[in-house]
Amino acid sequence: MNDELVRAATAAREHAFAPYSRFRVGAALQSESGAIYKGCNVEGASYGLTVCAERVAIWKAVSEGERRFRAICVVADTADLTPPCGACRQIIWEFCGDIPVILANLTGDRVVYSMAELLPRPFDGGFLG
Ligand code: THU
Repeated sequence: MNDELVRAATAAREHAFAPYSRFRVGAALQSESGAIYKGCNVEGASYGLTVCAERVAIWKAVSEGERRFRAICVVADTADLTPPCGACRQIIWEFCGDIPVILANLTGDRVVYSMAELLPRPFDGGFLG
């Protein structure tokens, strides 16, 4: 499963639109149905409108009707494996819960964290009553 997700995230990274940062990221999200949704970062000239690869993958899956997820993978070209940013951790938690988060690079390094490790004591809809 992890190999397939790493391959999909690596392929997604090829479509990254990152002319400002030149930092290209790919993500692959697997739903309970087994389908894999890919995402890449898409930057805007008004930098704050940029969307990370992870959120693109999640928005694609959710907008196709998916609601339950198994794992997400993030690929960037860094020796120190790139983790999801704080905003993405929040969204991964809200939509996917405590799933495995696979981090990988282009040279075969890989590590797996759980979302609970990456976002301790999370806020979510459960607090809204
Ligand atoms: N970025 C992602 O797509 N995912 C991450 O996990 C970290 C950061 C993007 C956002 C921006 O386009 C570029 O990387 C530099 O921050």
